[in-house]
Amino acid sequence: MNSYTVHPAKAVKGEISVPGDKSISHRSIILGSIARGVTTVTGFLRGEDNIATLNAFRAMGITIEDDGVTLKIHGQGLHGLAEADDVIDCGNSGTSIRLLTGLLSGQAFFSVLTGDKYLRKRPMKRVVTPLVAMGARIAGRAGGEKAPLGISGSPLSGISYDSPVASAQVKSAILLAGLYAAGETIVREPHLSRDHSERMLKHFGADIKACGTEVKIRGGRELQAQEIVVPGDISSAAFFMVAGLITPGSELLIKGVGVNPTRTGIIDILSLMGGRITLLNQREFSGEPIADVLVESSALHGIEISGDLVPRAIDEFPVISVAAAVASGRTVIKDARELRVKETDRIKAMADNLRLAGVRVEEADDGMTVHGAEKFTAFHADSCGDHRIAMSMLIAGLVANGPCTVDDTECIATSFPNFFALLEQVSHR
Ligand code: S3P
Repeated sequence: MNSYTVHPAKAVKGEISVPGDKSISHRSIILGSIARGVTTVTGFLRGEDNIATLNAFRAMGITIEDDGVTLKIHGQGLHGLAEADDVIDCGNSGTSIRLLTGLLSGQAFFSVLTGDKYLRKRPMKRVVTPLVAMGARIAGRAGGEKAPLGISGSPLSGISYDSPVASAQVKSAILLAGLYAAGETIVREPHLSRDHSERMLKHFGADIKACGTEVKIRGGRELQAQEIVVPGDISSAAFFMVAGLITPGSELLIKGVGVNPTRTGIIDILSLMGGRITLLNQREFSGEPIADVLVESSALHGIEISGDLVPRAIDEFPVISVAAAVASGRTVIKDARELRVKETDRIKAMADNLRLAGVRVEEADDGMTVHGAEKFTAFHADSCGDHRIAMSMLIAGLVANGPCTVDDTECIATSFPNFFALLEQVSHR
């Protein structure tokens, strides 16, 4: 097991770029593989989660060339995938397993999807239930709730589905199955979750219409290969945004960050807390908005976070709780029950770790209350095998009263392989 010790910083300064967006990288492989022709992808995130998706499509007969800069995906059309000759291992990646479950439901072959010990504990019925309603044949442990999942591809028909959760993985699994379904498939969600699938499906020429929290897709239309430029991942940038805001004397420019409005909850939340964040040089590539993000150290104050804001910042709550812990006053996080079924239970993991750092935290079923303090007391934390918990606690260590250690940091490679190098680069001691 790897551990990492972080030292307090006097300031966080400089100019960085963060690796490509994880969600968009997954979708570029999936759509590139089932489109007709050669899709090129630059800015692809070579993290373990995305490599799991890439390997899955190679195992299904798709040629994917990688010269280290650009991926060339030789798409074989909607019906060009071949049966993998072994179980497909999705590693730690919830996006891989849930999106592939949707896609593979409509194929003319059998597949088995599994993952690591964390992924095999996560709920799968949320995708299995609507897919079975479309005609999918899926079996899994615990009555289809847990991986491994066995999928016997079958003919599908469109459904109209009201999702009980705002989840882009659920929505995307249904939309991918919808590409193979007879007629129209409609998905509605309680709040809008990230819409990268809708944007990219449109870019590839799918018959899709999104309006508010409703998306409609018609099956059967072939997709056409595209050029994809993957923006920097705002969920990775978030760690450095918080680092820049909470470390005194800081000024940090994060270049080329994806600022899709379904993902910018972190910017809204930190701004509401009094954070100085400026978006510069806004532009758009392959249907996704991008900007450079300037952050300057700021005196933060506590706020209440709930409702629509929650899905727009769903992966950022671990690091938001770090910002809340050094803000003045109280921060209340509500409507965030989904955090309990992420790579780990992120409410419990952050409450336990922040307490180790001397912070007063109250857990609720759907969130937490964090009472701000000036500095963290030096701590020895555990990532619980979750990349975002590990990185959040390392950022907290920048403003602790002594060196802090985080155990089990290998998981950071799932989403942010050069995190340590960037942390070293910007930390001034
Ligand atoms: C993702 C959707 C979100 C997010 C995850 C990536 C995606 O999960 O937490 O990191 O790429 O679709 P949910 O759909 O479970 O909210």
